[in-house]
Amino acid sequence: EFHLHPRDAALSSAGYFGTFDRRQVQRGFQVYKEVCAACHSLKYVAFRDLKEIGYTEAEVKAIANQWVIEQPSINPDTGEATTRKNVASDHFPSPFANEVAARAANNNALPPDLSLMTKARHDGANYVFSLVGKGAYRPQPAELVEKFPGAKTPEGLHYNPYFANLNIAMPPPLTSDGQVTYTDGTAATHDQMAKDVAAFLTWTAEPKLESRHAAGFASVIFIAIFCFLAWGAYQNVWRDVK
Ligand code: HEM
Repeated sequence: EFHLHPRDAALSSAGYFGTFDRRQVQRGFQVYKEVCAACHSLKYVAFRDLKEIGYTEAEVKAIANQWVIEQPSINPDTGEATTRKNVASDHFPSPFANEVAARAANNNALPPDLSLMTKARHDGANYVFSLVGKGAYRPQPAELVEKFPGAKTPEGLHYNPYFANLNIAMPPPLTSDGQVTYTDGTAATHDQMAKDVAAFLTWTAEPKLESRHAAGFASVIFIAIFCFLAWGAYQNVWRDVK
């Protein structure tokens, strides 16, 4: 009764005929880049994949080159661990050198890779939208603590009724309107940023969503016509019997 079902983000990619809103996916990338990338990697997505959502080759190269989180590397002279700038074929890196460093920086929790997050969670896109959207992080209801004293939000965790555990280690990543300044002029309200990043993470988890929807639609039409033909053939074959 305290854990909430996700709110509906009403993304254009939802439903049988859904397609991506490329501008929205680009805005979502901007939110990922400016907010989420500080903790989360996208290990199954390469910079050059951004061409699919409308960035040019030159833009992709510039984005990779200027990415704040660099790739882990080895200094060829000393053999010591270091970092190097990203190139278009690199995948979006984790800001942490390893799991121990990641947990040390996050109250012993591990920020998961977000590439497939919208597939990994039930009703994933709406879940991501709800989890980081307006009002998700809120004071813990007093009734909950009365009923389940053991569920009291521990020091360093945050109450969020969309998270299955109710208490999450991630600090609220989106907190105010205008946290990101969109280059397309869209007003960056809290919920807008949350929806946009959910749209972007829907694309990272299933870049071929549009062609799957198109193929499914074509198949259903084909099968409908085929059913009609089969029924016609049946009528014809049995015409003289009975
Ligand atoms: C977990 C999304 C920014 C730290 C998660 C989860 C999602 C998510 C979907 C998984 C929740 C689950 O397991 O069901 C996002 C988005 C962000 C963002 C969309 C940007 C808008 C950040 C930032 C930090 C962070 C900036 C670090 C300061 C964490 C940690 C967890 C987590 C530590 C693990 C929580 C736990 O298991 O208790 N995030 N995140 N996230 N995130 Fe983020």
